[in-house]
Amino acid sequence: MDKANANGETVNELLKAQAHVWNHIFSFINSMSLKCAVDLGIPDIIHNHGKPMTVSELVAALPTLNPTKARNIYRLMRILLHSGFFEQQKLSQEDGYVLTDASRLLLKDNPFGTTPLLKVMLDPILTKPWDILGNWFQNNDCTPFETAHGKPLWDYACHYPKLGHLFNEGMASDARLIINVLIDKCKGSFEGLDSLVDVGGGTGTVGKAIAHAFPHLNCTVLDLPHVVTGLKDCGNLKYVGGDMFEDVPVADAVLLKSILHDWDGDECVKILKRCKEAISKQDKGVVIKKKVMIVDMVVMEKKKVNDESFNLMETQLFFDMLMMVLQTGRERREEEWAKLFFAAGFSNYKITPILGLRSLIEERAIGACAGPGRVDQACEGRTGPIVVVDDGMSRRRRGSVLCNNSSASGWLTAAARSGCDGVDSGLAYRIWWLVIGWG
Ligand SMILES: C[S@@+](CC[C@H](N)C(=O)[O-])C[C@H]1O[C@@H](n2cnc3c(N)ncnc32)[C@H](O)[C@@H]1O
Repeated sequence: MDKANANGETVNELLKAQAHVWNHIFSFINSMSLKCAVDLGIPDIIHNHGKPMTVSELVAALPTLNPTKARNIYRLMRILLHSGFFEQQKLSQEDGYVLTDASRLLLKDNPFGTTPLLKVMLDPILTKPWDILGNWFQNNDCTPFETAHGKPLWDYACHYPKLGHLFNEGMASDARLIINVLIDKCKGSFEGLDSLVDVGGGTGTVGKAIAHAFPHLNCTVLDLPHVVTGLKDCGNLKYVGGDMFEDVPVADAVLLKSILHDWDGDECVKILKRCKEAISKQDKGVVIKKKVMIVDMVVMEKKKVNDESFNLMETQLFFDMLMMVLQTGRERREEEWAKLFFAAGFSNYKITPILGLRSLIEERAIGACAGPGRVDQACEGRTGPIVVVDDGMSRRRRGSVLCNNSSASGWLTAAARSGCDGVDSGLAYRIWWLVIGWG
């Protein structure tokens, strides 16, 4: 039986290949079965039951179920058991369904729940562009979303409040979880800041959490006028309607959560330049540039992906495709991020991978003093991180100050990336120097 065919494939290899293709043809069934369970309210029904729930109890608890469909609930639950959304526990007569960590995230009252994201992403308005992806590759439209709906996503959301509302809810559900983790794990990143602007901050979920956690910090949420219209300023939080490509309000720090992945390289450089201006206009003419904080994905290196991280990488690639279909953006690898930062005039960045699929990426613009001179003189009396960039001389000298200053550790500079074998920073080399001084 197991003979090779004309392509040299054995029957077993052929059948395995067919199974692989079938699995991918029907992968949408995972998404749609999950959506159906949420539409029927199954996670909440099982949760409210308070103990493992048998299939007949579940059927009886589904208020709008047509009785002729009752026997199919078992089949819906079977695939959701397989995909890890429910588990079964032994009861005396039969097994009962219980929730898993994943289905707990689908409960209505879970403050970190992800149901709003599911609802918007699987709404026909957002699934239609996937259907015509092949056409888009052959036409002149910027995005498949435009091919499907005749205008870019943000214009469509402005004209069709149903999508705008679903979208803002979906984003807010993600923001609640991420900002809690960020404040918990990266408190230090907010220290020393008196003001922060959340650029593209939607309806202010992140802004409110930051304003609450840091009462001394003035927090501004910037978003398109139709998104922030009617939202009320409160205490140390205010809303500004505007266009991040035109102007970003002045602040010590700018936060960009899930923004840059929406846009192509040139657009990102424009946004980053506006952010750089916003953090540079401070302190009565003395240029003390502070920082830009980005929450986005850093796509994993394929060679580092193991069995455990395979699904994480797949989800990052799903998002990359999503950004191509809905927007002009992409998910980026570290080198791609670095290229953007340097193109926008930033010289250093730090990636902290503490947000699951996403990372906190911080950029600091170099400022304070710049010019040709002696490193030891430039550094005198400065306590903040000190970075020497591109002296245009020997590689040996570049990065040496960075290495000798522990408070700057973890920051990558153009100089440090180009090689650093360390020499005494006290040596009076005459070089171009730039010093960051703050804190
Ligand atoms: C993917 S959402 C991210 C929302 C929020 N940062 C979060 O993560 O929950 C992108 C946001 O950018 C806003 N946006 C799009 N174009 C903008 C522009 N030109 N100026 C300001 N905000 C914009 C959208 O209205 C939307 O709220």
